[in-house]
Amino acid sequence: MGEHVELLTERLSLRRPTPADIDAILAVHADPRAVAHNPSDGLATRDEAAELYARWDEHWRCHGFGYWVVRRHGVDEQLGFCGLKYVDERLLNLFYRFAPGSWGQGIATEAATAVVRWAAQLPDHTVIARVRPDNEASQGVAVRAGLSRATHLDAEGYDGLDWVFWSGLVPEGG
Ligand SMILES: CC(C)(COP(=O)(O)OP(=O)(O)OC[C@H]1O[C@@H](n2cnc3c(N)ncnc32)[C@H](O)[C@@H]1OP(=O)(O)O)[C@@H](O)C(=O)NCCC(=O)NCCS
Repeated sequence: MGEHVELLTERLSLRRPTPADIDAILAVHADPRAVAHNPSDGLATRDEAAELYARWDEHWRCHGFGYWVVRRHGVDEQLGFCGLKYVDERLLNLFYRFAPGSWGQGIATEAATAVVRWAAQLPDHTVIARVRPDNEASQGVAVRAGLSRATHLDAEGYDGLDWVFWSGLVPEGG
């Protein structure tokens, strides 16, 4: 797998974040609207954003993919972030968080769909999204990206009960 997997969709480019994206990581995660359903993900300082970036970058270094920064083609502005993180060796958590200014345009669905399709090439991997029960916008993205409800995987998360959506492949022994 290449060091810098990039995904291109009709409107969007998804690229590996760099330190130049730390300010955008802070801006999105310091916006109360963008963490309303997951307050434990909120950030207050640039140091916290730099630490979060370092964790994302470590995932990229270990696995060759991770969370992508999402932009429109030819436009430098970071719209948000979408990607995958290993939960265990065959289970990938799908993440998406966008700046409120880019909501309501199908951007998150377009990015998440590309990510879920890309993950389908990984043998025997399952993609899940953990979504708070009242986060209807996020549930819509998960379903439109191709995931379906997996009530048997629902579990308590950092911010309370998470509903789980999945790509449906049952991992060995899982
Ligand atoms: C979850 C989140 C990414 C959803 O963003 P979103 O913009 O509502 O989702 P989509 O990209 O699917 O866009 C769907 C909306 O775009 C509209 N839309 C406009 N043009 C569109 C197009 N070309 N294609 C698809 N939808 C389009 C749809 O009608 C829909 O509008 P509606 O919400 O008024 O019904 C966003 O709310 C967010 O970042 N929230 C904070 C972080 C978060 O909660 N993350 C998930 C944690 S589990």
